[in-house]
Amino acid sequence: MSKGSQVQAMFDGIAGRYDLMNRVMTMGQDQRWRRLVVGKAGDLSKGRVLDLATGTGDIAALFSQKYPNASVVGGDFSQNMLGEAQNRFSSLPIQWMACDANMLPFSDNSFSAVTFGYLLRNVDDVPRVLREIHRVLQPGGAIVSLDTTPPAKNMLYPFINAYLRWGIPLMGRMLASDEAAYAYLTGSTLGFYEACALANAFSDAGFQNVGYRKLMCGTIAVHWGHK
Ligand SMILES: C[S@@+](CC[C@H](N)C(=O)[O-])C[C@H]1O[C@@H](n2cnc3c(N)ncnc32)[C@H](O)[C@@H]1O
Repeated sequence: MSKGSQVQAMFDGIAGRYDLMNRVMTMGQDQRWRRLVVGKAGDLSKGRVLDLATGTGDIAALFSQKYPNASVVGGDFSQNMLGEAQNRFSSLPIQWMACDANMLPFSDNSFSAVTFGYLLRNVDDVPRVLREIHRVLQPGGAIVSLDTTPPAKNMLYPFINAYLRWGIPLMGRMLASDEAAYAYLTGSTLGFYEACALANAFSDAGFQNVGYRKLMCGTIAVHWGHK
């Protein structure tokens, strides 16, 4: 089974418990980070935005609430995650779409912004996905990413490492009945690009004005740039 199929099956399996786990693991900070993503995407009052890897739809919903006249698309390859998104935000005019970030079913230059929360550490080929996002963005359009990032080896490292290696899988067992899915989260975080290297990957894919901000003791990063 490819990494993509395994990731898809994993999110299909945890969709019903995903939001609860997110709130607990991040100590209630996750929505604040998503609002930062929306803020970094610029003014989209009349724009068209794609929230890729939308999962249960929080970022797409924040866009739709902030910009009622924008056209908002929430895309993901897990049908169960999309089903949760549809149920949670049925009153919002969001277009929910099954799609794979490796091969987006959109024409060139079609979005004013593309955002994604916790997508890149789940894909096999980050440069390929970044190039695909670049393709569907209009010139001047914004890319904004929210993801985990490997913690720096400083004084806090032993505590953060213990939380990632034992705390999160334990919570996964207790709250989501799926320790393996949350052990995967830890593994994919520790093995992911450092924030600076991810910024370089954005530049290599053709984005300009690339920047990032680290959050939550350096374990979360928001990256942005423009086509
Ligand atoms: C950790 S969840 C994040 C959900 C949401 N963005 C949030 O802020 O909570 C990651 C999502 O990425 C989706 N995903 C992973 N790889 C993908 C791919 N190649 N194409 C589309 N969606 C993908 C998964 O199905 C899952 O819903």
